[in-house]
Amino acid sequence: MVNLTKQLLLFLVFMLTLPLASWAGEAGHEHPAKDGKGPVILLVTFGTSVPSAQASFVNIEQQVKKAFPNTEIRWAYTSKIIRAKLAKEGQLIDSPEVAMAKLMDEGYAKVVMQSLHMIPGQEFHELYANGKLFGQMAGGFEQVMVAYPLLSSDESMDKMLQIVAAKIVPKERKPGEAVVLMGHGTHHPSDAVYSALMYKAQKLDANMYVGTVEGHPTFDEVKEALVKKGVKKAYLVPLMTVAGDHATNDMAGTEPESWKSQLTKAGIESVPVLKGLAEFDPIVELWLDNLKVAMAHLQ
Ligand code: CO
Repeated sequence: MVNLTKQLLLFLVFMLTLPLASWAGEAGHEHPAKDGKGPVILLVTFGTSVPSAQASFVNIEQQVKKAFPNTEIRWAYTSKIIRAKLAKEGQLIDSPEVAMAKLMDEGYAKVVMQSLHMIPGQEFHELYANGKLFGQMAGGFEQVMVAYPLLSSDESMDKMLQIVAAKIVPKERKPGEAVVLMGHGTHHPSDAVYSALMYKAQKLDANMYVGTVEGHPTFDEVKEALVKKGVKKAYLVPLMTVAGDHATNDMAGTEPESWKSQLTKAGIESVPVLKGLAEFDPIVELWLDNLKVAMAHLQ
């Protein structure tokens, strides 16, 4: 699994580009000029119900504000489950569709929806499709752009891994100690991004691995590779926007199925890094690169 061939990488990169082929950059159409307010940036994340994970969102908003100081910023969560959970606690968060309807009613003419997801998976594709439909409504927006999630190009994958290696993995890591990134994984074809990341991680650092909770590579594959290599210690890093439920429970939890528990059982000491990727400024910069491209397309 670790010895992925170049051909396989090419296939994976091809798979990655497939769902994006229809991305035209702009999801709007021409309207006669009108005096709409805007533009507005709609930050769209999966969401989290873990209060400490909010640090990621606070950091993203600060950096977006710094880059676009005069632009209105709104938030939406794509996860129905998270929105329902927060609503029960009295915190009402909009879906992207409700947020867009509100912006339309308020008279905004131009919107950039920024996907704060990791990969162009199901949430991104739904966001793109619905953003496009909002752009087509009569009497509504002049222009709707949907900006790519974090890992949307070969370059963004390389940059992300370099930042993880240089800034996120604790400095006390010694030679021979492993780094295991925990991605979410998905049934969507974009799951291939994680295998591409594994190939790239191994090229960057022979002791760096990528596993997923719900997709491929699986954690079992990673664990086998670590055992086979005789690794004695591993740093666990969530490959997720926030350090939420998956990071605290599936990765670092005390339950027997958690990655930490399973590694301990296999004789590998593990050190979880309980921070979301968006808590690190250089990672947020990568999202900002995508946001800037979309903002530059506003007419
Ligand atoms: Co999940």
